[in-house]
Amino acid sequence: MEKVKLALIGAGAMANAVHYPSLAEMPDVHLCALCELIDEKRQQTAQRFAIPRTYSDYREMLAKEDPDAVYVLMPPHHLFDIVVYCLKARKHVFIEKPPAVTTFQAEELARLAERNGCLTMVGFNRRFIPLLQRVREEQAKAGELNLAVAAFHKAQPEALYYDGAIDVLHCDAIHAVDALRWMGGDVVAVASHVGSSSSARQNRFVAVMEFASGASGVLLANWDSGARVHTFEWHAPGFVAYADPGGPDAPGQAVIRRPAGAQTISAAEAAGSTEFAKFYGFYAENRYFIDCLKRGQQPETCFSDAAKTMALADAILCNRIGR
Ligand SMILES: NC(=O)c1ccc[n+]([C@@H]2O[C@H](COP(=O)([O-])OP(=O)(O)OC[C@H]3O[C@@H](n4cnc5c(N)ncnc54)[C@H](O)[C@@H]3O)[C@@H](O)[C@H]2O)c1
Repeated sequence: MEKVKLALIGAGAMANAVHYPSLAEMPDVHLCALCELIDEKRQQTAQRFAIPRTYSDYREMLAKEDPDAVYVLMPPHHLFDIVVYCLKARKHVFIEKPPAVTTFQAEELARLAERNGCLTMVGFNRRFIPLLQRVREEQAKAGELNLAVAAFHKAQPEALYYDGAIDVLHCDAIHAVDALRWMGGDVVAVASHVGSSSSARQNRFVAVMEFASGASGVLLANWDSGARVHTFEWHAPGFVAYADPGGPDAPGQAVIRRPAGAQTISAAEAAGSTEFAKFYGFYAENRYFIDCLKRGQQPETCFSDAAKTMALADAILCNRIGR
């Protein structure tokens, strides 16, 4: 079997927790080299995943390794220059969410990728959670979506991402914003209430939106809540699903209700695994990226699509009721 040759930049938390373990399991993937600035992380990660060569300069790594694609796994304020370099070298690129600190940056990356014929993917893993994919299929079978709700709450009122490089909505609650686009499609209108409590910064984002289909979407994101809660609701004629896929601690479940009765599906059953990386969509998103590379197909969460999610987050901040 021909292997996809990957070069990796960044040996941080997400790389080690979910992405490299997923890729290392795939028989059609070769992790040829790793670049990381911190010696200890570089050595430990290379050893753990049997990566043969390491670098501290990604430019040297790209020149020497000539990989098929590059994973760039680091916070958004460190991404831009590196991703631009990879795209100019005509490499396909995978990054975590968010794709950039501003929508303008995300759009520029999308334009550069398109000009250079690169396949790109942003790790909006919620779209790849097996439980949510299963519920979405059941909803499509039942009928046309008329209402989607995505909620994401945390008990971190004063959360400050990367010393203030980016706000809560664009950095983290963006998962729920992107999920709504995945559930309902293109958004044509949005109105919001944005608030703050227990913090000088905005930490509550409530929005209603209209999809191009005419269906409604609701975002509920509150960082001054009681715990991490991240849930999804689909409504269609004679169909409602409440899904809580769980989180790092344990897998959750979905309940689908129809006039004939209720059906419960567990996140672990849908994924065939109780491993976080599997039931929470990380393995599946990496598998999908590799398959897209092999088929020469642009991933659905490519940079231009991710820029639309960033733009929707902008619209949520701008289109506030009564302003
Ligand atoms: N999808 C999710 O559910 C989810 C969850 C948490 C975090 N994230 C996202 O993952 C991204 C990465 O977060 P993280 O916590 O893994 O980051 P991290 O800070 O732990 O890791 C980044 C690594 O990149 C290295 N690095 C920085 N610049 C470099 C350079 N020029 N060359 C080589 N190495 C360099 C750093 O030394 C560090 O080890 C963030 O954007 C975050 O928003 C996503």
